Amino acid sequence: MITGKYPNLRLRRNRKESWSRRLIQENTLSSSDFILPIFLIDGSNKRENITTMPGVYRYTINRLAQIVDKAIKKGIPMVALFPKTKKILKNEIGSESLNENNLVCRAIVEIKKKYKNQIGIMCDVALDPYTSHGHDGLIKSKQIINDETIDVLVNQSLLQAEMGCDVLAPSDMMDGRVLKIRKALDNSNYKDVQILSYAVKYASSFYGPFRDAVGSKKSLKGDKKTYQMDFRNSDEGLREVALDIKEGADMVMVKPGMPYLDIIKSIKERFRIPVFAYQVSGEYSLLANAVQKKIIDEKAIFESLIAFKRAGANAIVSYYADRIDKIIK
Ligand code: PBG
Repeated sequence: MITGKYPNLRLRRNRKESWSRRLIQENTLSSSDFILPIFLIDGSNKRENITTMPGVYRYTINRLAQIVDKAIKKGIPMVALFPKTKKILKNEIGSESLNENNLVCRAIVEIKKKYKNQIGIMCDVALDPYTSHGHDGLIKSKQIINDETIDVLVNQSLLQAEMGCDVLAPSDMMDGRVLKIRKALDNSNYKDVQILSYAVKYASSFYGPFRDAVGSKKSLKGDKKTYQMDFRNSDEGLREVALDIKEGADMVMVKPGMPYLDIIKSIKERFRIPVFAYQVSGEYSLLANAVQKKIIDEKAIFESLIAFKRAGANAIVSYYADRIDKIIK
């Protein structure tokens, strides 16, 4: 009798040859699975190194084509824009976020003018690149004030939509902002602008190099624990997602990525909506530095990225996005 167990059953049979291994592959990666973050700086003709993130740069608006051309050529569906705002333009209330000539707005206009809909543009909705204290919201008596912050975020959303942003990504973690942004967009005839909510965003130590890249690291006073989630929790994340879906989110993000694969998986299983993973700056730096120093092989990058797909992510925000074709090979 043949039984469904050893010695009749041998799982290694399917792994014996490369062609067979390829046939039984459950997950794959391609450039279409990625969102590429781009850091912006003022000035002209500059591409600036970010020391904590080897291989990642800040671009001036007139040098944007260098990276956007590359993204389009490689088939990356969307870029995410992050500004490094000059210190003199930052203040307590982050008013530069509402300036239609700020870095992000100028970049959106530039990209849309040149590339139309060849590539999507995603923009963060949050105040931290613009506030002198580095927080995502307004502060009153040492508290991040929720509802007043939302009023500004709604205006920031409308402005970015007006400039041509395709996907608004509230990363601020205020309660109720998705609903208010959705309503404002619909009332202003931006019915088709999508909302990708950073629904599950943890108060994480993995954001360090990003804060360095956008220049908010030194200015940040305290931590973000009164609005970003406690990394001890997972049920709370499911509640956040359920609420954001009700409020009108088209897609949700989990952030950071690799330490939170369990969260990605449970959201996907439970809600069956598009889920995105953000392989954040600290994760990138760990990998990039270890690979650069030959502590681990470059193949570890691919392994880390496929883990997001296996967990159920539809796409991944990654600083590797522009080099992913080489990594896959
Ligand atoms: C701002 C924002 C942060 C990141 C994306 N948007 C930092 C933060 O919340 O402090 C982090 C991204 C990364 O680390 O790569 N709201």
